[in-house]
Amino acid sequence: MSTIVAPSLFAADFLNLERDIDMLNRSEADWIHLDIMDGVFVPNLSFGFAVTDLLKRVTQKPLDTHLMIIQPEKFIDEVAATGSTLMNVHYEACPHLHRVVQQIRQKGMKPVVTLNPHTPVCVLEEILPELDMVLLMSVNPGFGGQQFIESSLEKVARLKEMIVRRGLSTLIEVDGGVNLETGKKLVEAGADVLVAGSYVFNADDPLRAIQALKAL
Ligand code: DX5
Ligand code: ZN
Repeated sequence: MSTIVAPSLFAADFLNLERDIDMLNRSEADWIHLDIMDGVFVPNLSFGFAVTDLLKRVTQKPLDTHLMIIQPEKFIDEVAATGSTLMNVHYEACPHLHRVVQQIRQKGMKPVVTLNPHTPVCVLEEILPELDMVLLMSVNPGFGGQQFIESSLEKVARLKEMIVRRGLSTLIEVDGGVNLETGKKLVEAGADVLVAGSYVFNADDPLRAIQALKAL
């Protein structure tokens, strides 16, 4: 299976969003990654549902929505209304994670749990069979263009080992500081899905940048 690539729209040119989405539609990207930030869970704001509700008119790829917000369970209906295929909530934001995961599935979306860099994969021991995917942050969430945290590679390998040992088919997605070099190491360590923001949108040829990530 080739690597699944999910460019992050957070790094797009917001003055030319439709143009950038058109590029993604024409590209080999598998999904479009949407980063929603609340200025509380992370020290930044991004875009909200006023924007994501419009995106479904123009996007032709499955949406992978990453909520960097407290109490994400308040917005399950809104995320479902964007037509998202995957809904990612942070482990650190959900004291009743099992319930939230069930609610996401009831709304017809695939539940994904995201871990911050400092959160060990062992906290997923009980919830893992309920998940379609785990998203490992390889930077502290909130900003694009940050440096990849190298210890994420061992974390991917540990999670892969957990998944294989239990005979599960949970995907591993990694987000933050992904480029061709870090992406190659991540895929070798067991990552299935690469999120890339600045690497794609700052490239001279974003279509080729996506193609190169896919080929890893
Ligand atoms: C970080 C976001 C990422 C970010 C990735 O808080 O979750 O999706 O946009 O950006 P790059 O690829 O530039 O690190
Ligand atoms: Zn993200």
